[in-house]
Amino acid sequence: MIKLENVKYQHQEKTILKNVNLTIEKGKKYLLLGPSGSGKTSLLKIMNNLISVSAGEIFLDGKSYNQIKPSLLRKQISLIMQDSILFGKEVKDNFEYLNSLNNNELSEEMFLELLDKVKLNKDFFHKNINKLSGGEKQRIAIIRTIMNSPQFILADEPFSALDKYRIQILAKILVDLVDSENIGLVVVSHYFDEIIHLFDKVIFIFKGEILFLGTPDEFLENKDNHVTNFLEGNNE
Ligand SMILES: Nc1ncnc2c1ncn2[C@@H]1O[C@H](COP(=O)(O)OP(=O)(O)O)[C@@H](O)[C@H]1O
Ligand SMILES: [Mg+2]
Repeated sequence: MIKLENVKYQHQEKTILKNVNLTIEKGKKYLLLGPSGSGKTSLLKIMNNLISVSAGEIFLDGKSYNQIKPSLLRKQISLIMQDSILFGKEVKDNFEYLNSLNNNELSEEMFLELLDKVKLNKDFFHKNINKLSGGEKQRIAIIRTIMNSPQFILADEPFSALDKYRIQILAKILVDLVDSENIGLVVVSHYFDEIIHLFDKVIFIFKGEILFLGTPDEFLENKDNHVTNFLEGNNE
């Protein structure tokens, strides 16, 4: 599990995250919600060790981040960004690059099976990456991430380029994949209406503080002013 204890993150004079106590369990799926500028991206970057805490401590399976090599940590905790950058010319190049980083121990068969799992046919292996839609690129990015066998996946607005229908499809694909691999998942998304029940827990962050952690139903019924404002769309 990833455990954040009394985490604070300050950039120059500005406090961006404060009093963050949070446990992310393996095999569980979390939806991270909050108004724009509330600290969602910062929280994912902190968990991925891309930025360091100003106070407090983070642990992966009981071991402090300070004692884990950054390269090892990022292999166990993967970050998927809003617009994934694919390598090379063809989808296949993404497999080969990844394979070269893994002493050529990955199987092409597994990549092809994952194509099937993300509902792309096998011809995509030889497709030019410039011919892919935003959603197709994200599916390849998801495969690339899963091939690395992480324990956790953090995804920062992975659906933002998609319409509502495609968000639902891709969210379901992602959630099913992490379920079958027993990976812990944290997704930041603006859109939550139709996808919220795919998740075990909702984390609500407001001005750098976690104000709510609970089930989707508890969140939707929550009476906290900040939560109800957010649910009503008065985000700013
Ligand atoms: N590198 C940075 N320098 C200055 N301010 C930053 C930096 N990163 C984030 N912030 C500020 O921290 C707050 C949280 O940002 P962010 O984590 O990107 O929020 P969210 O992803 O929820 O929109 C915002 O007020 C943002 O302006
Ligand atoms: Mg953000």
